[in-house]
Amino acid sequence: MRITIRDLQAMKERGEKIAMLTAYDFATARLLDAAGVPLLLVGDSLGMVVLGYDSTIPVTLEEMLHHTRAVVRGTQRALVVGDMPFMTYHITESEALRNAARFLQEAGAQAVKLEGGGPRVATVQRIVESGIPVMGHLGLTPQSVHQLGGFRAQAKSAEEARCLLEDALRLEDAGAFALVLECIPAELAAVVSQRLRIPTIGIGAGPDCDGQVQVIHDLLGLIADFVPKHAKRYAHLAPVIQEAVQTYLAEVQQGQFPTEEHSIRLGAEALAEVLKAVGPAA
Ligand code: KIV
Repeated sequence: MRITIRDLQAMKERGEKIAMLTAYDFATARLLDAAGVPLLLVGDSLGMVVLGYDSTIPVTLEEMLHHTRAVVRGTQRALVVGDMPFMTYHITESEALRNAARFLQEAGAQAVKLEGGGPRVATVQRIVESGIPVMGHLGLTPQSVHQLGGFRAQAKSAEEARCLLEDALRLEDAGAFALVLECIPAELAAVVSQRLRIPTIGIGAGPDCDGQVQVIHDLLGLIADFVPKHAKRYAHLAPVIQEAVQTYLAEVQQGQFPTEEHSIRLGAEALAEVLKAVGPAA
């Protein structure tokens, strides 16, 4: 049985922390699902860690749907959230609803996420009213990187903190089932988490959120030369992958791979027939 948004709410009420991870492909999603991760986000961080863009802005809806389908195919239990990319929910509420619906109808996700408060609150409400669970996202909202002046911590002043809390409460009233808080002071995240009934999921927002989310590439150490301040590496896979690939390279070059073990051989009779048909190797 898949985790539902009611299960997540119950986890908050029991004081059980929620661990969320990003996933972008079938194989990784299968591993994370089997490990028991209850909540997977097909984040538009896809653009930066998988597609090599320098921000999330170029990511398209088609790219997000493509990867969301793969993640859904790799999961049986996790609730899969599809991240709505830049400008797919800003222009009109109807367009936002149509685009949100594609994540459920065409990609099989169980929920969508979108960034921002203010004018986005009405959009969240419209999508939720149509039966699509929405996760909000406040603080550092990477799709607004140019307006924010870089990937920097948010809500550090009293006025910004007040606005963030107000947006959080409005998103909850609009029906959001959970809220990502990215790169805000831990003390503010603690207050927001206490004031909201719905779970908060922090990334760079301290230990008092109801859950945490990390980008899987950061957690596994897949990007050798950069670790964001909010990330912890639980494995260092980049050198492991490089070593495996270098060994493969050397074995191919030296004729050590493939061996008999990896080869398909015909029986004597079939071999004779095939050789008759194709002729011997030159
Ligand atoms: O796109 C993403 O991966 C995200 C998380 C970091 C919350 O939005």
